[in-house]
Amino acid sequence: MSKLPGNAGVPLLGDKSLDFYRDPVLFCREKMEKHGSRVFQSRLLNRPTAFVCSAWAMKELLCEKSNVFLKDPTDVMTNMYGDTIVTTNGKKKNNCMHGATHLASSNSAYKIGGPRCVYTAFKQLGTELVLGLFLNVHADKEPELFQKIAQLCTQHWHGLISAPVNVKVPLWSSGFSVASEARDQLMQIIKEKLENEAQGFVGSLRSLPLPGSSCASQHLLLFISALIPKALASLLTSFTVALSGNNVLLQSLTDADYLQGVLLEVQRLWPPFIGGRRIAERDTSLAGFHVPKGYGAIYISHAVHRDPRVFEQPDSFVPERWSARNAEHKHFLCTFGSGSRNCIGMKLTDFFLKEACVYLLKHYDWCLDPPSQNLDYKWLPVSRPANPPTVSFTRFGSGQN
Ligand code: HEM
Repeated sequence: MSKLPGNAGVPLLGDKSLDFYRDPVLFCREKMEKHGSRVFQSRLLNRPTAFVCSAWAMKELLCEKSNVFLKDPTDVMTNMYGDTIVTTNGKKKNNCMHGATHLASSNSAYKIGGPRCVYTAFKQLGTELVLGLFLNVHADKEPELFQKIAQLCTQHWHGLISAPVNVKVPLWSSGFSVASEARDQLMQIIKEKLENEAQGFVGSLRSLPLPGSSCASQHLLLFISALIPKALASLLTSFTVALSGNNVLLQSLTDADYLQGVLLEVQRLWPPFIGGRRIAERDTSLAGFHVPKGYGAIYISHAVHRDPRVFEQPDSFVPERWSARNAEHKHFLCTFGSGSRNCIGMKLTDFFLKEACVYLLKHYDWCLDPPSQNLDYKWLPVSRPANPPTVSFTRFGSGQN
């Protein structure tokens, strides 16, 4: 079997993590060109790693070989969220939580207004959604508690993206230590809610057969964390920007299939997360290349979604492709992962996104304001235009913004 194109370099000195995290899209584009392959190797987090930018290799990694390529239990997610299904290998908890998120989605009914700096406004909306849905904390009923939790979630998030160094000296503490304190306070609030609330998602968790006493609180921490509002804000921002001043707006409103195509195209071109990592638990292969035991493997959603063998004109926004040549190709998207470890919140997100987008389409016309803005994306930690875009919304009939 042939060796993976590229090389993984020597430990530490050959590590390419900085290059990758600085600009993952450019990093992969350059390597694909250099090696003439959408699957190649490099060194990431000081581990030889197979980079997967091909649609078929992504399916092989996440579906056919999901029992060979496993989650990394030492992932930074474990530091910040504890033992959750995100980093645990095994299926039991996953099934329980699937039921739980379904419960949440059936309860949700959401209204949205007309924001200007869209990413910030949608992030606030996403925070209201997760805190209302998962913790029964509503911004209008308990504004102080809501603000306090939202602020703690932001501090906790900064720990996810800062170095895991727990340093605290008088008048200064590292982002990671501030984040750990925020996590402890959030856990305290969550535990009180779990003990005292009988209604809603948090109340219904008691009746689920969860393994271990901290399982419910750790998963609640994950569900209310800033990660999900940021991912929702990323998709809604891409949606509003892609459609601003665009005549597909009306068609999206009247034709549900077309709106579905628009949303798939938004997910394809601007997936909120760059991808996910696994580790090979034994010698195996990917796309016909040998992958030794202990190698990492990372799928790059941005590149997978632009694999020209599946998606013609891969960089163009073409909603019609989803009812034509790509009608059967939804499974090549990995915005929410794929296979047995895909996202358990996918249905909830789909429901929420459609509600929010239809509401916007029904009530508003919108355009970039000012019309010319730099819309170049950054891809980490969550994708969005690097300069947050500003948009003007006009409510139909009222002439008001
Ligand atoms: C826009 C919204 C969202 C996006 C883009 C997203 C994306 C993803 C992706 C890409 C994965 C797979 C990661 C991998 O392969 O390593 C994943 C897994 C996961 N997601 Fe989401 N997600 C979203 C919303 C949610 C929501 C609303 C919840 C919960 C309420 C959630 C809970 C999870 C969990 C628990 C996993 C791990 C599943 C497992 O490992 O078995 N996500 N998500």
